[in-house]
Amino acid sequence: MKLVFLGPPGAGKGTIASQAKTAYSIPHISTGDLFRDNIRRETELGQKVKAILAAGDLVPDEVTIAMVDNRLKEADAAAGFILDGFPRTIAQADALARMTELDKVVNFVLDKETVVRRLSGRRVCKSTGRTYHILYNPPKVEGIDDETGEPLIQRDDDREESVRNRLEVYEASTAPLIDYYRSRGLLVDVDASGSPEEVFEQLKKAISG
Ligand code: AP5
Repeated sequence: MKLVFLGPPGAGKGTIASQAKTAYSIPHISTGDLFRDNIRRETELGQKVKAILAAGDLVPDEVTIAMVDNRLKEADAAAGFILDGFPRTIAQADALARMTELDKVVNFVLDKETVVRRLSGRRVCKSTGRTYHILYNPPKVEGIDDETGEPLIQRDDDREESVRNRLEVYEASTAPLIDYYRSRGLLVDVDASGSPEEVFEQLKKAISG
């Protein structure tokens, strides 16, 4: 199954993808995670994109497209994948169409107020990227990762200024992909406002049809 997860920042794409990858035995490929991993390892790519991510702007298309093209050529992606956070522009969607054929594009629908609530309460483990929410999915011990025992941090781009910018960037560059994929008969909408369990149930129904 070749899936794209589309939707505003904070809609829960990563949370649902981590359940779906196990259920469907396909890799979860998040461009945001790939960039953050490069930043953590201080690679050349990481140094190039660090300030862009912190500000909530988009990494240039050619850089992002080349990274995804390489990742999709890895053996584990041959039979299927969940692409989370890619494509984000029409140019990226055109490039993806040249790389592979998709089965479905899942559009996670969530209002702006809830998006801001989810992002402002998100905390992550820096070394593993595991995601929590201070209210909706708290760790067992406040501020501490359940498995590694490391302190949880707030992502640089979850600060108010950056969240506002990410929402504007989403509306301007990524929201047009909803019509792009709807007109190609690939889009399925999923209401992302329920609990993760409810959203996952909806996803299963949406992609089985
Ligand atoms: P990326 O990491 O893709 O960020 P994003 O799209 O903004 O998505 P998020 O990770 O913020 O949110 P999510 O929808 O996965 O929500 P989550 O599950 O964490 O990209 C980061 C940056 O990288 C971009 O700004 C850009 O600079 C760059 N980049 C990436 N891809 C690019 C591309 N293709 N082109 C150019 N640049 C690119 O959930 C959020 C919170 O809500 C969590 O705390 C979670 O616990 C909670 N939550 C989730 N679901 C629920 C629920 N159902 N109920 C209650 N709480 C929930």
